[in-house]
Amino acid sequence: MKHYTHINDLKSLQTTVQEAVNLKENPLQFEQLGKGKTICLLFFNNSLRTRLSTQKAAQNLGMHTIVMNFGSEGWQLEYEDGVVMDQGKAEHIKEAAKVISQYCDIVAIRAFASLENKEKDQQEQVLTNFIKYADVPVVNMESSVGHPLQALADAITLAEHLPASKAGKTAHRPKIVLSWAPHPKALPHAVANSFVEMMQLQDAEFVITHPKGYELDIEITEDTTIEYNQEKAFENADFIYTKNWSSFADYGKVLSQDKNWMITQNKMKLTNNAKFMHCLPVRRNVVVEDAVLDSENSLVIQQANNRTYAAQVVLKKILES
Ligand code: CP
Repeated sequence: MKHYTHINDLKSLQTTVQEAVNLKENPLQFEQLGKGKTICLLFFNNSLRTRLSTQKAAQNLGMHTIVMNFGSEGWQLEYEDGVVMDQGKAEHIKEAAKVISQYCDIVAIRAFASLENKEKDQQEQVLTNFIKYADVPVVNMESSVGHPLQALADAITLAEHLPASKAGKTAHRPKIVLSWAPHPKALPHAVANSFVEMMQLQDAEFVITHPKGYELDIEITEDTTIEYNQEKAFENADFIYTKNWSSFADYGKVLSQDKNWMITQNKMKLTNNAKFMHCLPVRRNVVVEDAVLDSENSLVIQQANNRTYAAQVVLKKILES
């Protein structure tokens, strides 16, 4: 694997999940693989989990890590060709990407959507220009359109908690629901997009539920079932994956903060004793009630733990190639 920018960069999701579970059992088993190699993590936006878990993953493989808060500490980058750079932007991506490539063997980038310019966000300007001009493999730590490391961690978590076969009976095909929930701020679509793309590779009944106007990009959801009645969507679900996102059609707008969409203990009672998932960070009692997050069915801490093994299996595949 050269770059990891999308869940489909993995040859097989199922095999990769199994490899990650194997790494989790003995995280230092490939400690020699990355010896003498360096990964450079560039953050144009904030992070807790991605920043720490990706470093831990690299260190488990014996790599050195360099972290830079590019958004606040780097020079402002110009991405357009042929521009007279007499305004605020001090450095062109052409030089920046080549210079950074000399300091590391892999570069990982977090650059969120602006939620102001749909066309530019869809072009994934930062990520695609690093791929174009860097001389080393590029890993997507959440771009304007996707968060494939999160989706892989979620696939690992799902695999670990799928309904097990009991007493010789075959496990039923799980029902997995992606539910929008309210949030005071406009949030990007990346996590939801990548979760949908990962779910399209799973043998499961998959339903998205959100208020009208919050449809994700149809190019991504394709023919995935959308149920506008959240309570109906929850019936018999085995997993409830919750995330807020802003409107895609009315790009970046918060159309509703309807508290009735918050995930509550009462709504979870409609499910098949479903596990609750969220990528974090999460706003308690806005997105989801305390009682759900603090319940035994909440997998949010396990999801965050699996971020390490998702990143580790990805870095391992890049180092091996
Ligand atoms: N889920 C996730 O990517 O967390 P951070 O934004 O804290 O990295």
